[in-house]
Amino acid sequence: MTRPHLKVEKNLKIDGVDTTELAKKHDTPLYVTSGDRIKQKYRKLKQALQNHYPKIRLHYACKANTNINILKILEQEGCHIDAVSTGEIYSALKAGYSPEKILYTGTSVSNQELKYAADKGVMINLDSAHEMRRLSEITSTKVSFRVNPGVGAGHHDHCITGGKESKFGIWEDDIIDTYKEAIDLGLTPIGIHMHIGSGILEVEKFRPAVQKMMELVGKITNEVDIDLEFIDIGGGLGIPYKPNEKPLNIDKFAEMVTKEYKKGLKQHNLNQPILALEPGRYLVGDSSILLTKVNDIKENPFHRYIGIDAGFNTLQRPAMYGSHHGVVNASNPKNAGNYIKNAPKEGVDRKAEIAGPLCESGDIIAQNREITAKAGDILAILDTGAYGYSMASRYNSRPLPAEILIENGETKLIRERETHRDLLSKQKTN
Ligand code: LLP
Repeated sequence: MTRPHLKVEKNLKIDGVDTTELAKKHDTPLYVTSGDRIKQKYRKLKQALQNHYPKIRLHYACKANTNINILKILEQEGCHIDAVSTGEIYSALKAGYSPEKILYTGTSVSNQELKYAADKGVMINLDSAHEMRRLSEITSTKVSFRVNPGVGAGHHDHCITGGKESKFGIWEDDIIDTYKEAIDLGLTPIGIHMHIGSGILEVEKFRPAVQKMMELVGKITNEVDIDLEFIDIGGGLGIPYKPNEKPLNIDKFAEMVTKEYKKGLKQHNLNQPILALEPGRYLVGDSSILLTKVNDIKENPFHRYIGIDAGFNTLQRPAMYGSHHGVVNASNPKNAGNYIKNAPKEGVDRKAEIAGPLCESGDIIAQNREITAKAGDILAILDTGAYGYSMASRYNSRPLPAEILIENGETKLIRERETHRDLLSKQKTN
């Protein structure tokens, strides 16, 4: 159980702040993030890798959570950015990242988007030979390539981004020709990249991908006249969501990755290119909780339902991937011990389905849970920092929620709750 920022006293607290008070003051649904937890995770991963190899660069995959205040926290830590859209480039620049710290890894990218990235001076990581040719018509610049190493992994089919069924990157057999063509086109390739998938909890799942990457690096540097400045092995580092799930062992992960990396460098006589990684979920995933109010309780012969005010408009992961998120009754945390160390763990007479307010049967946030609640209680949905707010929508004309950040003991509203008026703000109303 790796949620040291969460504690149960009478109510659930996050970094010492009473979550029920936050809900009372700012209303619900409400995302609450511990900035200190994000810093802790960043430092832990960076140090674990640097214990074995000095030239480490972490790019925060900001699709996980693009709130500018969170981007700023990681910028202060010295982090770089993995951006997937011009909107993410824009946000990262606004958060203070210098263009050289931004790696733009798009897919199905338009010429306008390439031009935007080139004009801003960010590093472009190309997803296809076609994209490379189109870029070369716009500018001659330094580039890198995303390779599909033929290996994939992830917590759900939708989240596997390497291997035969993946749309991403350049197939491994074509990568050497692509580097050669890039040079002919006047581009300067200085990096190579892969990302095999998301939500991986076993160290060994990464090993074949790193080995394949180093094998490809050997072939490329042997056949093409390039100086590789960086090798980016992507993100994908998982976090535990379920009560008995084991966390990814970061020290073992760092040891394995750097061992395979250094072995490859030695084998192919390379000096010390930067080893880059681009974690999203690992850095921010367990830093946030989503506070939601219980509106309604009902039972039928088959289920007990706890009806809350957050649905898949607020947190899409359970509906989209069948993902598990812990749920704790913050007002009466009798069940918190399933998820939080030293918290009480009481059984229930009947398990509950936790259902959202949307008009869809699939709007169930959690199933079969040992939790009791009454109307008006505040529930905390755990580990919602990654792909929570960033995947939220206004479905059923429900305004987007507010966000709170707690950092250095200070509680700040970092995004206002939307209003009904916001729902119509871009529509032609006359
Ligand atoms: N790099 C690239 C190129 C990526 O496409 C991704 C995630 C990452 C890095 C970061 O992956 P992470 O370290 O967060 O696993 N919405 C899904 C996850 C989709 C991930 C997409 N790509 C979910 O909620 O589980």
